[in-house]
Amino acid sequence: MSNKSLATSAEKLCILVTGGAGFIGSHTCVELLAKGEDEARLKFYCANILDRAALESIFAENDIDAIIHFAGFKAVGESVAKPLEYYWNNIAGTLVLCDVSRAHGVKNIVFSSSATVYGEPEFIPITEDCPKHDATNPYGQTKSMLEQILTDLYVGDNEWNVVLLRYFNPIGAHESGMIGEDPKGIPNNLVPYVAQVAVGKLPYLNVYGDDYPTPDGTGIRDYIHVVDLARGHVAALDWMAGHVGTGEPIGLGSIKGEASPDETRRGVGIFNLGTGKGSSVLDVVHAFEKACGHEIPYEIKPRRAGDIAVNYAACDKAHSEMGWKAEYDLDRMCEDSWRWQSNNPDGYRSA
Ligand code: UFG
Repeated sequence: MSNKSLATSAEKLCILVTGGAGFIGSHTCVELLAKGEDEARLKFYCANILDRAALESIFAENDIDAIIHFAGFKAVGESVAKPLEYYWNNIAGTLVLCDVSRAHGVKNIVFSSSATVYGEPEFIPITEDCPKHDATNPYGQTKSMLEQILTDLYVGDNEWNVVLLRYFNPIGAHESGMIGEDPKGIPNNLVPYVAQVAVGKLPYLNVYGDDYPTPDGTGIRDYIHVVDLARGHVAALDWMAGHVGTGEPIGLGSIKGEASPDETRRGVGIFNLGTGKGSSVLDVVHAFEKACGHEIPYEIKPRRAGDIAVNYAACDKAHSEMGWKAEYDLDRMCEDSWRWQSNNPDGYRSA
């Protein structure tokens, strides 16, 4: 079946957001609704991407134009202990999703990838041309493999439009304080951990290593506000539709070959989504202290296995091709994380 063109008017645009209730997915839904026309609305399905019958009925009930695919397991350590679950859920789930989508004539997909595909990066700042390296864990492998699978889909059938978004370190929360990151159990990632120390749920932060070749010895990452990241997905849909810089709302016009204003925009687009600025673990601690108004206790611990010293993005490609750029700085990210955490010390469970 030939590919579905994006809808002819924005109010008709229908995006399937898998993992739409997750951290990045929920913020992306908010940005999609904000970008849509007045009557933009959200429909929620509780379904597993491995459940073909459930997906079939979702596609049958809705005139879907494109998919933003977030659904996937994402804990690095857990993936080492449960490789089968990770490969099954992330890889097989995406295969089922793409197969059902294709059968319904929808071949437009934006995929949640990760800077993890660069492994130990060959150069910093990392551009999209930086060679990929083996990930050190099954979670990272699934991101890398899915990039390959989606690229192969396009190679085999040029009607596919694929955008691979390589996220750096998403943190922060919506400024309303009503949605944010809600990790299960003890957080693995830095900012959710710091936030729980700040709110008194955990006694102190473990800083994994202060002997890296960085100015203060702690690891450097490219933290990006989740709302900036969410807007990167809206920009990716615009890019797919070939309407970058035209000021037209997403989804206007067709991305079918004959109608595409710029043939080169079709195919596989790969973009880093970061700020281009590196911050150390202690920079984050200090920014968070400013946001919450008190000290965050920490202890220096040995390096964490699999961590690299420095990781930050070059984001010029996303800027020049998609017209997207991160706006919020580290202070703002920590302020918004703190608002979410202090309003909801137990995450969504306290609601
Ligand atoms: N860190 C601490 N203490 C903690 C947690 C983290 O010191 O309790 C340090 C880490 O050593 C690292 C930095 O904080 O230097 C950031 O660590 P995160 O776990 O928050 O993030 P990572 O960069 O390790 O991982 C992120 C994503 C992964 C992705 C990886 C590589 O969470 O999904 O980037 O791109 F795979």
